[in-house]
Amino acid sequence: MTRTQKIGICGGAVATLCLIAFALFGHPQWVLFTWGAAASLLILMAVLLFRARSTWTQALLPWPPERYTDNIDRYRARGGVLEPETDIKKFAHNDQTRFFVFCLIVDQIVKDHVPGDFAELGVFKGHSAEFLAAIGRRLKRTTYMLDTFEGFDEADLGARESSLKGAFSDTSLDAVRAKVGVEKTVFIKGRFPATAAAIPDDARFALVHIDCDLGEPMMAGLQYFYPRMQPGGFILMHDYGSLYWDGAEKAVDDFFVGKAEGVIPLPDRCGSAVMRKNKQVR
Ligand SMILES: C[S@@+](CC[C@H](N)C(=O)[O-])C[C@H]1O[C@@H](n2cnc3c(N)ncnc32)[C@H](O)[C@@H]1O
Repeated sequence: MTRTQKIGICGGAVATLCLIAFALFGHPQWVLFTWGAAASLLILMAVLLFRARSTWTQALLPWPPERYTDNIDRYRARGGVLEPETDIKKFAHNDQTRFFVFCLIVDQIVKDHVPGDFAELGVFKGHSAEFLAAIGRRLKRTTYMLDTFEGFDEADLGARESSLKGAFSDTSLDAVRAKVGVEKTVFIKGRFPATAAAIPDDARFALVHIDCDLGEPMMAGLQYFYPRMQPGGFILMHDYGSLYWDGAEKAVDDFFVGKAEGVIPLPDRCGSAVMRKNKQVR
């Protein structure tokens, strides 16, 4: 509620009380008029209060893309690979925009015939990994899942991040494996980038999701995956624009200095950004 709204509502309340007092104890000739005025002011205040309480974001509706709703039959007839109604169950975040960003990227990879595997750096309990691995299988791609599976590594925590020690340790590789499934999925446990050695040298990627929160693994992830992206491949970087993770934001900004591609900030809750590797010009 803004200051002006607060002043308006307080002023209205005082005026209404005065009018009620006047209606009760004032000259009988004015009773009807003052009761009417008090009632009108009360209604006006109720409307003001209601409007002040609804946030400005409620002026916008979270619409899903029409290709997955109104036009789902046309989507299927064109060979769309997603079944958003059931695939959503494999995505354990309730951020609609985030889910549809994944969907739209997958659709574009299919449409443009971008070859290559999938990878996620920062898996935690598999909330996004389950969806990613399922789509990877559907498209016959291998999905690499990289995490310490023990939470943040102390070596990645900056001086002002010591309070984050132990964060995300409430998980285990076995539990994630059971949730995500093992078919065409390679789990690599340990601190990245040391674990990059476990990825085959010739692996190339169509979609990489970096969701590590911190600056060190964000930079290491970009350094490793960027040169291994297929032309037209996507790197989705979580936590870029939320203003919670300065290290991740700085790593992305620093990394893309001097690169042909830039990043596009996305309107999901945690401020993802996406980069698309330049396509090969024939
Ligand atoms: C925000 S969580 C990932 C969330 C997950 N993508 C989801 O959808 O729920 C961040 C993860 O990054 C992992 N991580 C951070 N730094 C890492 C590093 N250097 N190597 C491997 N994993 C790392 C943490 O262990 C943690 O599980």
